[in-house]
Amino acid sequence: MFPCPTSLVVTGTMEKANIVTIAWVSLLTSQPPTLGISVGTRGYSGEAIKSNKDFTVNIATVGIMIEADFCGIRSGRDIDKFSETGLTKMPSKIVRSPIIKECPLNLECRLTDWRIIGRTNHFVGEIVETHVDTDKLKDTGDIGSIDINAFDPLIYIGGVREYRRVGEKVGDPYQIGNRLKK
Ligand SMILES: Cc1cc2nc3c(=O)[nH]c(=O)nc-3n(C[C@H](O)[C@H](O)[C@H](O)COP(=O)(O)O)c2cc1C
Repeated sequence: MFPCPTSLVVTGTMEKANIVTIAWVSLLTSQPPTLGISVGTRGYSGEAIKSNKDFTVNIATVGIMIEADFCGIRSGRDIDKFSETGLTKMPSKIVRSPIIKECPLNLECRLTDWRIIGRTNHFVGEIVETHVDTDKLKDTGDIGSIDINAFDPLIYIGGVREYRRVGEKVGDPYQIGNRLKK
């Protein structure tokens, strides 16, 4: 599946937390707001999420590309990725796992279910709180009105393994298709 936003998943506490780079994030349902993340069984994060029972999903920007990549090539078993990258831990409002200040969008998730398929843990998280930097929103201030150029999300293209930024707008979803209506 490509492209994917590059997400930084944090699990732990303000005292000790780990960051893992995850491209496989899916929205599962909106009522209650729920997402799924796929986390390999060989890394540190899978077991950490199971014992913490919560995690946060933080959307990376092009501005923190090097730090985001670092969190995807090193393990929390060996190092503290917050101190190695200089990314800033901030307390969440509801869950124990912190959020990352440098990411303009943060989703606090409570672990509600999980299962292993193949070599991957599939975690289901209910989104219990959302934070967004207001300077990344359009004038309306509505959380759905992301100014995508100001946000500048770090896009991961699997397969060819490239990071990219979002290109230009080409149409209006749910409307443009009406042009085919007779
Ligand atoms: C761009 C990118 C995307 C990644 N996406 C995933 C993913 O969706 N699931 C996964 O399990 N690992 C993914 N990884 C690999 C993990 O981030 C990597 O194995 C990490 O070192 C595990 O860290 P941990 O041991 O601290 O959990 C990705 C890595 C990169 C660089």
